[in-house]
Amino acid sequence: MNNIYDFKQNVKKSELDQIVKIINSGGIIVFPTETVYGIGADATRDDAVKKIFIAKGRPQDNPLIVHISNYNMLEKVTTDIGDIERRLMEKFWPGPLTIILKSNNNVSKLVTAGLSTVGVRMPGNDIALKIIGACNTPIAAPSANVSGKPSGTKLEDIYDELKGKVDAFVDGGETDIGIESTVVKVENSVVKILRPGKISLEDIEDLGIKVTLDEHVFKDVKHDEKVESPGMKHRHYAPNTKTILIEFDKDNIMVDKVDKYIKENPSLKIAIVCFKEHSIYYINKNIKCIEMGSVNNQLEISRNIFSILRFIDKLDVDVCLIEGMKKEYIGTAIMNRLIRACEYNIL
Ligand code: TXA
Ligand code: MG
Repeated sequence: MNNIYDFKQNVKKSELDQIVKIINSGGIIVFPTETVYGIGADATRDDAVKKIFIAKGRPQDNPLIVHISNYNMLEKVTTDIGDIERRLMEKFWPGPLTIILKSNNNVSKLVTAGLSTVGVRMPGNDIALKIIGACNTPIAAPSANVSGKPSGTKLEDIYDELKGKVDAFVDGGETDIGIESTVVKVENSVVKILRPGKISLEDIEDLGIKVTLDEHVFKDVKHDEKVESPGMKHRHYAPNTKTILIEFDKDNIMVDKVDKYIKENPSLKIAIVCFKEHSIYYINKNIKCIEMGSVNNQLEISRNIFSILRFIDKLDVDVCLIEGMKKEYIGTAIMNRLIRACEYNIL
């Protein structure tokens, strides 16, 4: 692999200087955050940000998140911050929370896709913070993947689809959380979750703040429908293989559903992505079985899920069934991604 900076053990000063040179001359880099890898560029430069859209094949109406490493940088992006937004920042930054704020028009119009608002976050990852700090400019970064594919959680998963399209790759090993940040907007003192993530509805509620889940989190969005977070209407995360989501239920009910599906479709090659506690039930069914993690450890599942969604296409099966989980805490976010990955096919 070429053009790779290995920062897994430590961030090397001389290599960091080279990365700063790339960003400050309008280049783009793949870099790790605590959620997923991003493709970063100087958020204030049209020429640089344009390259991100080209590398990803991303629709121009889908705005990018701006990443900052300190509060001085926040002032470059917005001047209008309410009390609730401040409390969220104090509690959850640096961390996996993106807050939609009023833009003061210092970032490229391509970043905001022409909206009057800008999504901002301070990532909780040391490598990301050092890169942004050294570049001394807000960094616009969508998830590192070709549009429509699952976001990258390790370099090996995304190198082939992005090589030749970016100027450098920074390797920070596997990301911690594995799914993208929570995106929120405050309206009339209520926090609206536009995209669920590790910072959950329950976490925000614990602060004594009113919070709601946007109606589109679990709903199919028609292409011409107006939504607050444009990313929700685009095709997302879907493997090429047909995938079907099984609603979370008691063990025996989930397993029976799979059994019935296998019996009704004897000519299909079938795989199942399941809780590791369930694999024992599927072992004798003559189907491929991929464990996603423990039913009692949603964070383990969130770390693995995008890599597994990519792996499904290598299984050489006609259909892959995926066990769903409880829609609570980070499970809400995982289910939001899985419903889209399965293109609303639910069993
Ligand atoms: O964890 C993350 O958020 C990762 C890492 C790299 O930081 N980034 C990420 O970016 O997931 P992306 O571009 O794949 O997703 C950004 C989401 C999209 O759904 C987009 O529509 C929404 O944030 N978004 C960005 N700016 C917005 C705005 N001004 N108003 C509403 N939604 C916005
Ligand atoms: Mg994305």
